[in-house]
Amino acid sequence: MLTIYVITPFPDILNAIFGQSMLKKAVDREKVKYVVINLFDFVNKDDGGIDDYPFGVSKGMIMKAGPVLRAFNSINIKKARVVFPTPDGQLFTQKIATDLSNESSLVFVCGHYKGIDQRIRDSIVTDELSIGDYVLTNGELPSLVMIDSIVRLIPGVLNHYESAETDSFFDDLLDGPHYTRPRDYEGLKVPNVLLSGHHQKIKDWFLDKRIEKTKKRRKDLFEKYKSKNNGEKNE
Ligand code: ADE
Repeated sequence: MLTIYVITPFPDILNAIFGQSMLKKAVDREKVKYVVINLFDFVNKDDGGIDDYPFGVSKGMIMKAGPVLRAFNSINIKKARVVFPTPDGQLFTQKIATDLSNESSLVFVCGHYKGIDQRIRDSIVTDELSIGDYVLTNGELPSLVMIDSIVRLIPGVLNHYESAETDSFFDDLLDGPHYTRPRDYEGLKVPNVLLSGHHQKIKDWFLDKRIEKTKKRRKDLFEKYKSKNNGEKNE
């Protein structure tokens, strides 16, 4: 079972999402446990709060080292990957999500304001990760994005694990089109091939659609796919 610890000054944001949909099902199925740690429980009299003015050239408030490091020490685990979501981190990818889904403990440290004291990053953080080239106001949202993508990869969390195998990025191709009943919704029809019962034709059609979309939207991914598949099915 994967235990995910999240250190945050806003536990309600996390608890609201952990209590719904697949992230909750993963708990019910005993695949994951979430431990939300309220940073304010670790503020001392001397701290005066969780943030303070910066030394040097920085502008904006900085989260103090003391409360975060005490919250981290309260976890009392020997070894864990410690993720700090930050726009100056390495880009978070499906490959990193897969790696992290194989761990037994993960810790997320949610930053706020201008950032966190560098000593936190230097002493406990193992993975500084960005979810994209834009800046958010808080670390809770990127933590949730990453946790969601990690948890769904744990075997037994999704009803159909194979559905993760056709995910965008699983094999360097974007996902293809999906349809369900009815066959005809006010003239909007499901493609005939899907109703043909011809499994190989359906598989080929789906692969073609994925290739077409990837080529159009993500040249970088398509080049990767092409080089791995030796020119097969890729013109
Ligand atoms: N915190 C603020 N912006 C972020 C981003 N793009 N990725 C991860 N953490 C962040």
